[in-house]
Amino acid sequence: MARTPIMAGNWKMNLDHLEAAHLVQSLAWNLKDASHDYSQVEVVVVPPFTDIRTVQSLVESDELSIRYGAQDVSIHDEGAYTGEISTGMLNKLGVTYVVVGHSERREYHNESNELVGQKAKKVLDAGMTPIMCCGEALEIRKAGQHVSYVLGQIDAMLANLTAEEVAKSVIAYEPIWAIGTGEVATPEDAQEVCGAIRNRISELFDGPVAEAVRIQYGGSVKSSNVREIMAKPDVDGALVGGASLKADEFTKIATYLK
Ligand code: PGA
Repeated sequence: MARTPIMAGNWKMNLDHLEAAHLVQSLAWNLKDASHDYSQVEVVVVPPFTDIRTVQSLVESDELSIRYGAQDVSIHDEGAYTGEISTGMLNKLGVTYVVVGHSERREYHNESNELVGQKAKKVLDAGMTPIMCCGEALEIRKAGQHVSYVLGQIDAMLANLTAEEVAKSVIAYEPIWAIGTGEVATPEDAQEVCGAIRNRISELFDGPVAEAVRIQYGGSVKSSNVREIMAKPDVDGALVGGASLKADEFTKIATYLK
């Protein structure tokens, strides 16, 4: 079965709920104008927690086909965890995807592969889909260790997931040196690691699981480079930061097939 490409816009800590409404409306309008077929390319926005309720209201009232996600989640269900948000809370807001283990969370909040794996499990248990991030820093790439490093992350993150869970998950390969730097990995760089991840999943589970899992590339994806990256066989979508904050630019990325 062919994998449906998935374009997800990670807004990071940008846009308040009013700005969020504006961006989602503009995006929906643009995509309608372009007769976008959402079954051909899935379109996802990943706003800050404080915007999710607003995005939900718009998506439901206007019956939009845009899906939305959250940027992180707690491993706890409820209780004395100041500042945390649970999977139950996200579920109630109609969230489809939850990004776990973004390199910025790993760096600024010391998140380990094990914790990221636990978060992914929590998300799956709640009936949502994790977007599990991995990727190497520049020194690792320069030392030529990027493939083994990323596969180590994959092994640890997937250790407690079943084959069925992995098959419906999304993995985002985001080399840290290419995030927000304008420095984009070449399509060959993206394919090298995305292909290695898929191979590893076929070793850890089986061929059909590897064929089903969707693997995104992320790091300075723009309308000007998305086509060549998406042309690679093991790249099934993009996790887009900066370029997802502009409706016109993200529309072009989502409609890269046209
Ligand atoms: P960028 O961010 O597109 O701004 O490089 C990507 C990401 O961090 O998901």
